[in-house]
Amino acid sequence: MTKFTKIISSGSYLPKKVLTNKELESRVDTSDEWITERTGIKERRVADDSETSVDLAYNAAIDAIKKSGINKNDIGAIFLATCTPERKFPSTAVLLQNKLDIKDAFSFDINAACTGFVYALDIAKKYIESGQIKYALVVGTEKITSLLDWTDRNTCVLFGDGSGAMILAASEKPGIISSTIGSDGSYKDLLTVNTDLEYIEMKGSDVFKTAVNTLGKLAKHTLEDNNVGNDELDWLVPHQANERIILAIAKKINLPREKIIITVNKHGNTSAASIPLAFDEANSKGIFKQGDMIMLEAFGAGFTWGSILFRY
Ligand code: COA
Repeated sequence: MTKFTKIISSGSYLPKKVLTNKELESRVDTSDEWITERTGIKERRVADDSETSVDLAYNAAIDAIKKSGINKNDIGAIFLATCTPERKFPSTAVLLQNKLDIKDAFSFDINAACTGFVYALDIAKKYIESGQIKYALVVGTEKITSLLDWTDRNTCVLFGDGSGAMILAASEKPGIISSTIGSDGSYKDLLTVNTDLEYIEMKGSDVFKTAVNTLGKLAKHTLEDNNVGNDELDWLVPHQANERIILAIAKKINLPREKIIITVNKHGNTSAASIPLAFDEANSKGIFKQGDMIMLEAFGAGFTWGSILFRY
């Protein structure tokens, strides 16, 4: 049985169209100053009508596969996190598998809203460590702007589209050290898209408070349970929803700003795509070194939450 799982590459894709805070000022009663101060967001990307979450995922997946150096046909499974599937069924994962022309693999979607990518990594790790597959393609992809009410200033300024991917491989050495996921459905109405409305509805300040509390505790426990001092943590790559949430969590674990990857200013909240997008942006710049200790953590509708601690 394989003992460990390693992240061997990452890839990402952003749609071309940039939507700035300034442009949003002409749509709703808001200002660049308000959005920047409350969220850290300056701009986000918006997919055009012809692009679906599968198209975004395809570009990110191709990028990750190319950088991994493996043959795409070595991929045993595709775990795809999204809450904006192209179709109700077949799954976005299966549509991606078809577009990539991968035959000998199984694929399925995971919907844990903004925590989806961490859930997908947790599942991929378990399949790899059971010996069932050697390589997994893990993708987060969202056309989340398709769920926005562009007249609601409480939500329309916060989100953006994009996709990120990783290739995971069986390994003799760690790799992923710990993986934790959780959920509590009693918060179902604080952040939701109801099937009859089809728009994001959110109680922003309640989500904010619960996110900071939950993620603060999760980050602390993830480090403590694995005997990793905060000075041994090289990088935190958090879900990118709001810069104030990210900095509040970093404060709880005494992590300096220089060790945190922040991309929310350019991407907005891209839901399940946010962590792999942030990771790949930093990774492409050569920021992560082999052996670095990195923590990913996410929080989303449900509520759902999760963390991954690994050596790169
Ligand atoms: N522009 C200008 N004013 C806005 C606005 C906008 N885009 N959106 C909301 N406001 C107003 C509100 O209407 C409210 O006005 P009022 O006091 O007259 O009623 C005021 O700003 C304060 O609203 P509040 O919700 O208390 O602000 P906040 O400091 O909590 O910031 C969020 C709002 C949404 C930025 C913040 O709550 C947040 O980030 N929440 C978490 C969101 C999140 O992470 N969601 C995804 C989780 S995965």
